[in-house]
Amino acid sequence: MQIIRELGALRDAVRALRDAGQRIALVPTMGALHAGHIALVEDGLRRADAVVTSIFVNPMQFAPHEDMDRYPRRERADAQLLEKANAAILWAPSVEEIYPQGFATTVSVSGVSQVLDGAARPGHFDGVATVVLKLFQQVKPDVALFGEKDWQQLAVIRRMAADLDLDIEIAGVPTVRDDQGLALSSRNAYLDEEELASARTLPRALGEAAAAIGRGEPVAGALTAAVARLAEAGFDPIDYVSLRDAETLAPIETLGERPARLLAAARMGNARLIDNLPVHVT
Ligand code: PAJ
Repeated sequence: MQIIRELGALRDAVRALRDAGQRIALVPTMGALHAGHIALVEDGLRRADAVVTSIFVNPMQFAPHEDMDRYPRRERADAQLLEKANAAILWAPSVEEIYPQGFATTVSVSGVSQVLDGAARPGHFDGVATVVLKLFQQVKPDVALFGEKDWQQLAVIRRMAADLDLDIEIAGVPTVRDDQGLALSSRNAYLDEEELASARTLPRALGEAAAAIGRGEPVAGALTAAVARLAEAGFDPIDYVSLRDAETLAPIETLGERPARLLAAARMGNARLIDNLPVHVT
């Protein structure tokens, strides 16, 4: 696996792959890799011949009071995991390489970016869309993979790719969870043992609410019960537990024809956790 830090070298390496007739997948990450990230790389290798993984903790998607400075960084271990997973290239640019002096452009996807996490973290999805579009321009992949764990992020990227005619396939990969259902996240590292145990209430509460709604129970009651369970487990604040159209993220009061998704965000200790599940009529 090549580890590349400069854009010129990245372009040369990607061109060499393409000249050799290889189809290229991109897996953008912020590092501190776990089995969820590796699942994206593995899926990338099923969809393409070569996988480029980026590691870049993107300042533009963190607000000044957020966890950018303490976000876990362990590039050496990450590189070993990626090597084992057969990634072809690790693209690990510096902040200056991505945002040189004078950088002035922001990509903003309205609507789907403005609700839920977009409302709780103003500017966050502009930062995500901007860096992801840059990564797309740098690597020019045939396919790019994103986790369903960050459902709203996936919806924002799909909207951007459609709106800007990007001609890149956007693939969503199911959330990888631990043996008790907690979605793997680099931010789980902020939790101690006790908090980790309490955090497992998040997927359980969502699972129960999704099942209740799927059985036809009133949506409002199911959401209220989930919020109460999270509060009881020690989540504070609970930013939202909400039933949405899976694509537009518009609020839904009753299940209809279109796919629905139940999404939640809440803080446990020092970690703001998010999770989501599909809701099917049963
Ligand atoms: P990061 O949080 O490192 O996540 C990188 C990718 O891994 C995202 O597509 C995310 O959805 C996916 N992922 C994380 N945990 C997962 C899990 N448990 N199961 C499946 N996939 C999982 O998301 C970002 O970085 C950044 O916003 C980025 C897209 C790189 C732009 O900076």
